[in-house]
Amino acid sequence: MSSVARKKPLVIGEKSRYVRAMFATIAPRYDQLNSLLSFHRHHAWRQQAVRLAKVGPGERCLDVCTGTGDFALALARAVGEQGTVVGADFCVPMLQIGLQKIRNRGYRQIKMAVADAQALPYPNASFDVVTVGFGVRNVASLEKALAEMVRVTRPGGRVVILEFTRPRPSPLRPLLDLYLFKILPNIGGWLSRKEAYTYLPESIAQFVSREELAAAMQRAGLTQITIYDLNFGTVCIHIGVRPAYTGEVLQ
Ligand SMILES: C[S@@+](CC[C@H](N)C(=O)[O-])C[C@H]1O[C@@H](n2cnc3c(N)ncnc32)[C@H](O)[C@@H]1O
Repeated sequence: MSSVARKKPLVIGEKSRYVRAMFATIAPRYDQLNSLLSFHRHHAWRQQAVRLAKVGPGERCLDVCTGTGDFALALARAVGEQGTVVGADFCVPMLQIGLQKIRNRGYRQIKMAVADAQALPYPNASFDVVTVGFGVRNVASLEKALAEMVRVTRPGGRVVILEFTRPRPSPLRPLLDLYLFKILPNIGGWLSRKEAYTYLPESIAQFVSREELAAAMQRAGLTQITIYDLNFGTVCIHIGVRPAYTGEVLQ
């Protein structure tokens, strides 16, 4: 892991600028590379997250760090025409590609919005479900993003995080590390901007573990946190519930 550690960690403002500029550059090839590098599995992972969070018809969903909108599309299929989905991201070129895709497929229940996950422009408790796919690893402050995601979720609503994670120790681990830290950055680098695909394994290596992410969700006020491992433990889904206070007066 140390071989991929960045020499100088990015500070918060720098990280946001760096990440936004990087995604703006790779936006035109992002979807294609996602399919190639995940062996076409990435749609199934988002679909599974939607299923595990029991997203249903008529629900109001927010997908932060939505990028080109694939999580928003998976949510839209689950909420149907009576539901609503907002896909929010701070990188306009990513959103524009998503918007085109959504229009081409005729999903009128999805709106795409320019917003920073760390300062969401939505009222408290305005969504039933708030999701983020491969995004929290990229935000400058995980705590701020989680606090905002919880704030805009209604009591009793769910927060869903789909993210890469470091594989658990197992006989497969050396192979998985080889793919994640050596093969993937090279293929990504040949086909797109080299730096973007060395950033990917670096950011996975530096990101919190699945247990630390669950603890951060708990600190942000979520309960009933469940963790699901996918793809040989290289991808994780965390689901937490914002507690529903009943207002019952204790005697
Ligand atoms: C790896 S892409 C994930 C896109 C999409 N969610 C998916 O599942 O493919 C990460 C996205 O997070 C966005 N992002 C990173 N930090 C953000 C922030 N603070 N606020 C909003 N978007 C952010 C980037 O612009 C980028 O589009």
